Amino acid sequence: MQQQRYAQITGWGKYVPDKILTNHDLANMVETNDEWIVQRTGIRQRHIRTEKDTNTSMAVAASKEAMTVAGITANDLDFILVCTSSSDYLLPGAGSTVQAELGAACGAVQLVAGCSGWAYGAAMASSLIQSGTYSTILVVGVEIVSHGLDYTDRSTCILFGDAAAATVFQVTEEPSGVLSFELGSDGDKAKSLWVPYGGSSQPINQSVVDEGRHFIEMDGQEVFKFASKTVAASLKRVIAQAGLLPDDIDLFIPHQANARIIEAGARLMRQPKDKFYMNLDKYGNTSAASVPLAMVEAIQEGRLKQGDKVAIVAFGAGLSWGAAVIQLGAGEISKAHSLFSLGHAKYLAKRTRETVLDTAQNIILPIAMRFSGKRK
Ligand code: UT7
Repeated sequence: MQQQRYAQITGWGKYVPDKILTNHDLANMVETNDEWIVQRTGIRQRHIRTEKDTNTSMAVAASKEAMTVAGITANDLDFILVCTSSSDYLLPGAGSTVQAELGAACGAVQLVAGCSGWAYGAAMASSLIQSGTYSTILVVGVEIVSHGLDYTDRSTCILFGDAAAATVFQVTEEPSGVLSFELGSDGDKAKSLWVPYGGSSQPINQSVVDEGRHFIEMDGQEVFKFASKTVAASLKRVIAQAGLLPDDIDLFIPHQANARIIEAGARLMRQPKDKFYMNLDKYGNTSAASVPLAMVEAIQEGRLKQGDKVAIVAFGAGLSWGAAVIQLGAGEISKAHSLFSLGHAKYLAKRTRETVLDTAQNIILPIAMRFSGKRK
């Protein structure tokens, strides 16, 4: 009988740019103030890309860390999903640029689902693994949102930041990993959060640039209403789908958009506020990187341990949403932060094996063939 396949998270990593933009910095750029931003959003600062950071370089830095924790190399990857709406180029997509930089030899694709990106990626990776198509998939959430912001528009520029976080999903027979998921889209509300110009329908021209319509535009209250309704409703559905109750969830990892949305979600779920993880005070809303970045930090802070059940929920442009229940397996969660983890040892062993094989193929074999040719 064929064994049931599950998609387990075995590796995680993050990259945040060095540059920090505080609420006080923003108050010098646009008519706003720290008190308003903290009260209405919970955000105190965000990280912004520096000259050395590209969408690809950030994704690759996070991915290398995640692969080290998983104890794999790029050669082990069967597929790469890069969830982002801020790729380096319009074409090719971020899948290809990240695949090339990692030196992987597998299919790779960019997934554009706004802030719901990583939730979509996790669901798709899990399905590809459970179906038997692939065994090891890298799912990255990465954004340079700052590139698309109008820093004269206080209704958007205070909210977002840049970051990358990566996760490795691998097949396991242990009943764990992604236990349930839900993906949704309400495209009728697309204009509540969009970049109207720059696509093929409404290309950029000088007057578009002069009017600043190539930046992100948002109806904050409309998105707020949508999010407040969606967070608890979709969490309840995925938790029930996994055969669990909200009390069975060890930690909720919501999209880090606004502390008020998260607190409303906790109230509607009748769960204590501190079961809803928050790091938006440090990073703001990092779009597709938000949920995986929060998960990586929750693991690194020891808020999550092996066997824990996590419920994630994300929402954003589309308007779209995604939620999932994920059970962490018997991996090396507690040990994995250390460079000397089992994962790192496995990684070093694999790298050594690959180097030995490369040397044999490229140096020893040609020399041996030359000598054997001479002897004849
Ligand atoms: O991934 C999804 C991304 N998007 C979201 O999650 C956005 C969801 N929406 C929100 O988080 C909130 O709607 C915002 C934080 C964007 C806005 O908060 P709000 O409580 O809905 O504020 P508001 O738009 O109703 O504005 C209230 C007041 C207005 O002034 P008046 O008309 O009452 O005098 C605004 O002009 O606050 C003013 N305001 C600001 N004041 C200082 C708006 N933005 C700012 C600002 N600084 N940055």
